[in-house]
Amino acid sequence: MSYGTAGFTACLSLLGIEDAGVRPDDGPVLVTGATGGVGSLAVMLLVDAGYDVTAATGRPEHTERLRQLGAREVVPRDDVLHPAERPLVRGLWAAVVDTVGGDYLGSAIRATRPNGVVTCCGMVASPHLNTSVLPFILRGVRLLGIDSAGRSRDERLRVWGRLAAVDAGDGLEEITTECTLDELDERIEMMRCGESAGRTRVAIVGESG
Ligand SMILES: NC(=O)c1ccc[n+]([C@@H]2O[C@H](COP(=O)([O-])OP(=O)(O)OC[C@H]3O[C@@H](n4cnc5c(N)ncnc54)[C@H](OP(=O)(O)O)[C@@H]3O)[C@@H](O)[C@H]2O)c1
Repeated sequence: MSYGTAGFTACLSLLGIEDAGVRPDDGPVLVTGATGGVGSLAVMLLVDAGYDVTAATGRPEHTERLRQLGAREVVPRDDVLHPAERPLVRGLWAAVVDTVGGDYLGSAIRATRPNGVVTCCGMVASPHLNTSVLPFILRGVRLLGIDSAGRSRDERLRVWGRLAAVDAGDGLEEITTECTLDELDERIEMMRCGESAGRTRVAIVGESG
């Protein structure tokens, strides 16, 4: 359950990048919202698959933790923003796992290398996307929507099979905080305030426990 829907979604993003033919030696992969559930697991899974990961985060105090997950670079989240007036900027990323949307997603598309892939699963920054078509028609950038809910049984088996094969080491436990049902309201409030990181696993303790 430490993987949960976040791990499933991160793994769908990884598989989308791999299926699109982006290889580890094509260049770095950016992960936005890197301390979040999807983001931190995306960092872990991409590193396990051999990619060179740059993690963008609004919380520099988590830099060491992201490095322990294997991120080669950890950058302030606003460093990956590029002005919307410039339809293309220097191609930095072979691929991007975007979990936050808005200007971060638009910027990622503008800074993706030719034939690169940008996966889009979340909208914590904004559900709106401001982009021209130029990255798509001049660089062949591909935007891949990720929907964890509508997957077939075969796709689910593929994703969970891949997750089961990952050498998570201590990484998965280190980003997971366990709480009881009684502590859940407090954890949810922390999430709402942007004070939680990684995954929260709820321990269901029976009457005898
Ligand atoms: N498509 C699907 O099937 C699917 C499945 C699961 C989740 N989701 C969506 O994916 C997104 C991420 O989910 P999650 O579970 O990882 O959430 P989460 O644990 O709350 O993490 C979100 C992360 O986004 C960053 N962030 C927060 N507010 C931000 C802002 N205003 N601007 C820019 N970045 C901000 C923070 O990372 P930093 O502090 O490191 O920047 C935060 O840790 C959510 O929108 C969720 O609904 C979609």
